[in-house]
Amino acid sequence: MSTSRQGHIAVRAFLVVLRCMTCFKTLLAAGLAAAGLLAQLPAPAGAPLRDLAARRGIHIGTAINPVALKNDAGYRETATREFNQIEPENAAKFGPIHPQQDTYNFAPVDDLAQFVENHNMVLRGHTLVWHNQNPAWLVNGKFTSAQLSEILHSHIQTVVSRYAGRIYAWDVVNEAFEDDGSLRKTIWANTPGIGLEGTAYIEQAFRWAHAADPKALLFYNDYDAEPVNPKSDAIYRMARDFKARGVPIDGIGLQMHLTTQGGPMESIDANIQRLTDLGLEVQYTELDVRLPLASGQPSAESLAAQAKIYGEVAALCLKHKLCTAIQTWGFTDKYSWIPGWYHGMGAALEFDPGFQPKPAYRAMADALMK
Ligand code: G3I
Repeated sequence: MSTSRQGHIAVRAFLVVLRCMTCFKTLLAAGLAAAGLLAQLPAPAGAPLRDLAARRGIHIGTAINPVALKNDAGYRETATREFNQIEPENAAKFGPIHPQQDTYNFAPVDDLAQFVENHNMVLRGHTLVWHNQNPAWLVNGKFTSAQLSEILHSHIQTVVSRYAGRIYAWDVVNEAFEDDGSLRKTIWANTPGIGLEGTAYIEQAFRWAHAADPKALLFYNDYDAEPVNPKSDAIYRMARDFKARGVPIDGIGLQMHLTTQGGPMESIDANIQRLTDLGLEVQYTELDVRLPLASGQPSAESLAAQAKIYGEVAALCLKHKLCTAIQTWGFTDKYSWIPGWYHGMGAALEFDPGFQPKPAYRAMADALMK
C-alpha cells in the first residue's frame, strides 16, 4: 500500500472517530474529557475552516480551478489554508479528461492529486456519467448502444483505476433525473443509451466504478433535490432499491446551488434523514448562494441573508452523523460559474474577489465551532 493511501485512510479513520465522538456527547464528555483529549482539539476563534471541520469530523471542500491554483497566489494560499477536500470543477469530466477517443488528458487531475497529497487533503472526483461537457467525438460519433456501453465501461475503468487510492469518492452519475422525477433523456440513458432500461444504466455505472476501485466511495449527485420533492423522491427510491439489492452506492451528493430563499430547511432535514436512514452518506457537493447584483455589488442585507443560509445548511449537515462533507462550488467570487449562468446574479461564495472572508464564511465557521 502506498504511503499516500495509508495517509488518506488514516485521515478518514481519524475523521470518522471524531464524527462518532460528536454524536455521542455523553461519551465525549465522560471518556474524552477524562482522557484529556479535548484539550488537544482546540477551536480558537479565527481558526481556518479545515481545522474547525476536522474537529467536527467532516470534510470542508471546494471545487478547484487548476489554472487559478497554478497562477493566482491568493487563490492557492486561501485554498490551502481553509480546505481539507478539493474537487476539480471541470477537469475530471468526460470531455476535459477524455478529449479524443484514444486520448486522455490526465495532467490537470494528476496535479491536483499531488497538491492534495502535499497539503494533507482528500480529493473528490466529478463526474463519470453526465449529459453535459461530453466531447465532440462522443456526441457526434453516431455510436450504437453496444458501442456506447463499451466506451463508457472503458472510460470508467480507465479513469477510476488510475486514481484508485488517490480519489476517495466519485460522483459516478450526475443529474440523471428531471425535476418531475422522470429520468433525463441522455446519450447514456436512452438517446440512444447503453442498452439498459430505467435506472439500470446508473446501476451499471456504479458496478463498473466499484470494480475499478472497490475502496472508492460512490455517489449519485444532483441539484434541486435537497428538499423532499419529486426529484429527490425519485433519487430516494433509486437509492433504496440499490441498497436493497447490494448495488455499490455509498452516498448522495446534494449540490446545494441555493438562493437566499434557502431551503425550506425542515424539508432538507427530512430528506437528509431518509437518505442517511438507508445507511448512505450525504455530502454537500456544490454549495453556493447566489445574490442579485443590482448595482454590481451585493447589498449588506443580501450578504446577511446569504450568511444565514450558509450557517443554517452547515448546521444541518453537522446535525446528521452521516453528512460527511460541506463543499462549496469554488470559494471566491473572483472565480464562479454564477455570473456567466444567471444574468445579474453573483457573489455566491464565502470569500470576496480579494480573498477576504464574507459574512457567509463567518456563519460557516460559527456553525462548525458550536
Ligand atoms: O475550457 C474551455 C475553454 O477552452 C474555452 O475557450 C471556453 C470558451 O467558452 O470554454 C471553456 O470551457 C468552459 C468550462 O466551463 C471551463 O471554464 C465551458 O465553456 C463552460 O460551459 C464550463 O462551464 C462549467 C459548467 O459546469 C458546464 O455545464 C462550469 O465551469 C462549472 O462550474 C459547471 O459545474 C456544474 C457541475 O459540474 C454540475 N452541477 C452544476 C454545476 C454548475 O453548472
